[in-house]
Amino acid sequence: MEIRTVGVLGCGLMGSGIAQICAAAGYKTIVREVNEPVLERGLGRIRKFLDEGVSKGKVTEAARTATLGQLSGTTRFDEMAACDVVIEAIVEDLDEKRTTYAALESVAPEHTIVLSNTSSLCITELAAATRRPDRFGGLHFFSPVPLMRLVEVIRALTTSDETFQTTFAFAQSLGKEPISAPDRPGFIVNRLLVPYLLDAIRAYENGLGTLEDIDKGMKLGCGYPMGPFTLVDFVGLDTTYYIANIMFAEFREPAYAPPPLLKRMVLAGRLGRKSGRGFYSY
Ligand code: CAA
Repeated sequence: MEIRTVGVLGCGLMGSGIAQICAAAGYKTIVREVNEPVLERGLGRIRKFLDEGVSKGKVTEAARTATLGQLSGTTRFDEMAACDVVIEAIVEDLDEKRTTYAALESVAPEHTIVLSNTSSLCITELAAATRRPDRFGGLHFFSPVPLMRLVEVIRALTTSDETFQTTFAFAQSLGKEPISAPDRPGFIVNRLLVPYLLDAIRAYENGLGTLEDIDKGMKLGCGYPMGPFTLVDFVGLDTTYYIANIMFAEFREPAYAPPPLLKRMVLAGRLGRKSGRGFYSY
């Protein structure tokens, strides 16, 4: 199947990054948001990233212009009628996703493959919420999307071989390194990353060391790009808490249980970078 036009639903942190790399790879890309101000904020994030890339000498002026030329924003669903692949990157809420898929499928052609960037919801359950469970799958990106090379490709129980192969090749065409991950909470990366982050929080609560020392230990001792508290602030405490709860509900293993401090910080609105305060202040 030839993919020419890609739709992206949601132009938040993940959606904007996904739309940017699709446009940069040469696909005509249409990104949809719920209203103009949110859409403009997302498109602004893309322009800023490309501008900074040009200043840093990482993106050529021609590539910046070409990427923006392939990209358009909309608040309407009917523009998705032109899309061969649609990547959904909206809020992690099953009902919201169901409503969005219904609106999408009222205009999307039969052949369109629908992919969710969910980090935690069950891909088979999402596929079952559509009229195309064989042409549905998971395509999970990592933040910041334009810089992180990995993408997880997840098959629902119902995903056809053709859809999986097309999705895998599509991920490669975006300049990413795809891996095949199972439809289990956390897929591969979060299944290992989230318990590590939770463990760091538990260890901190138990007096293992200061935030700075634990971060420095893992950064300099293991060569990680960020220590666990810098990373949890970067990912979002609410996101981490949400994923942990889903993993714990499915596996019932203590390693996935969110520590009391994480829950209280989320309740207090200390969500990390995005709220100006998490384990550190920004
Ligand atoms: N355009 C183009 N390139 C850019 C750029 C831009 N606007 N901004 C930065 N870059 C390039 C830089 O030039 C640099 O390239 P080189 O390595 O070739 O020099 C590279 O990107 C790194 O940028 P910086 O030097 O500015 O920043 P850094 O070295 O501090 O790295 C980081 C930043 C990539 C975010 C790094 O800290 C990192 O990898 N952190 C970990 C991120 C991570 O773990 N993400 C996954 C989170 S989990 C998730 O997302 C899944 C989930 O479901 C929760």
